[in-house]
Amino acid sequence: MKLDILTLPDKRLKTVAQPVEIFDNELKSLVKNMLETMYDAPGIGLAATQVDVHKQVVVIDVSEEKNQPLCLINAKIIKKGGQQISEEGCLSVPEIYAKVKRAEFIEVEAQNEQGEYFTLEADELLAICIQHELDHLIGIVFLDHLSPLKRKMALKKLEKDAR
Ligand code: NI
Repeated sequence: MKLDILTLPDKRLKTVAQPVEIFDNELKSLVKNMLETMYDAPGIGLAATQVDVHKQVVVIDVSEEKNQPLCLINAKIIKKGGQQISEEGCLSVPEIYAKVKRAEFIEVEAQNEQGEYFTLEADELLAICIQHELDHLIGIVFLDHLSPLKRKMALKKLEKDAR
């Protein structure tokens, strides 16, 4: 089932997500629906916050063929290093793109849909995507990383496009 994606300036995007404690069928169908919504959009990542579910769940697929779905539950970045600057966009911030500075590589500890723990090392686009999606879970969108002036300009464009 496709879910509705919240867009700025919706205040619900600022909600801080809670950890997942119960790994049941409800969680599995949330993940399935989030993947469907992400592929349909189309996007390379989606956080539960964006579909108004305030649990620490993100789905990602940065593969060319869109056949490598990744689900991170209760994810924490346990190591990070380096620096990369890349243009980002977001399904919750339509038509706006801006350069954001992120860590170049990260190591993440997370749980899968069964609740099993795993660690993942990521760099390049996957590292960017994970950092972007985990930001959503604490109420941050990529525009929040811009200078106040650049953020203001982006928000103005967003307002104009919405009209
Ligand atoms: Ni986003």
